[in-house]
Amino acid sequence: MHTRVGVKGVDALLDGKGIPAGHNVLVLGAPGSGKTTFGLQYLVAGAKAGENGVYVSLDEDTERLLESTEPLGLGVEQAVAAKKIAMVDASPIRLLPAKVKLGGTEIGRKEFAVATLINSVTEAIKRVGARRVVIDPISTLVVHYSEDYDRRIALLDLMAATARSKCTTLLVAEMSDPSLERKYQFEEFIVDGVLVLTRVLSGQSFTRVFSVEKMRGIDNDSQPHPYKISEGGIEVFPTEQLF
Ligand SMILES: Nc1ncnc2c1ncn2[C@@H]1O[C@H](COP(=O)(O)OP(=O)(O)OP(=O)(O)O)[C@@H](O)[C@H]1O
Ligand SMILES: [Mg+2]
Repeated sequence: MHTRVGVKGVDALLDGKGIPAGHNVLVLGAPGSGKTTFGLQYLVAGAKAGENGVYVSLDEDTERLLESTEPLGLGVEQAVAAKKIAMVDASPIRLLPAKVKLGGTEIGRKEFAVATLINSVTEAIKRVGARRVVIDPISTLVVHYSEDYDRRIALLDLMAATARSKCTTLLVAEMSDPSLERKYQFEEFIVDGVLVLTRVLSGQSFTRVFSVEKMRGIDNDSQPHPYKISEGGIEVFPTEQLF
């Protein structure tokens, strides 16, 4: 069983199949590279195919997000109105105080951040019967943890929760170094697949570049391919080479 991404050109790079169902896939991208657009397109494609979705926003409140992406005409609003996509505003997580009172006991922000997020995600998955989840961006969750070990555990806990719900999940992450010869980020090793959205200087101008860095269980094309963002969203050109 596979989950078709539904962003033009992407499934062709995934052996024509898509993402193995239940996988947790990182969407790693530079600022403004289209990570949010990609996630929304994935959910709208699902809604059209009878696979409902949950979008969890960790940075922006969901109303502002819908306003800013509306001009692209992705069709998110209609799918939300039809209850095929649930929008979860988890942005208050970034404002958590160091200690949180839960019932009679005080717990640290670290424990609270991931537990709260898992609760709201699993609740929303049940509510719409979701098969697809987008969490955008996990970078906002991860900053609550100063130790490498804690960060990994938080992310693994979150991934285990979405996998238990039988959802195929895109975890959006900010790319700390957008060059093609960059150092890997810890998230890339843990997840089942990595999709990269970045840009390269070709001559005097930038070209947007998409690549499937890894996808467990799929004989994927791992070459960089150009993509564009325009009305309707992202389109990757799987037969065009970059170099
Ligand atoms: N109508 C449009 N036509 C072409 N490009 C557009 C259009 N609308 C938005 N864009 C491009 O899409 C980008 C924003 O996409 P998006 O918000 O999905 O990126 P992001 O990677 O999530 O950004 P951030 O790092 O801020 O979260 C803008 O930087 C802009 O270049
Ligand atoms: Mg974004």
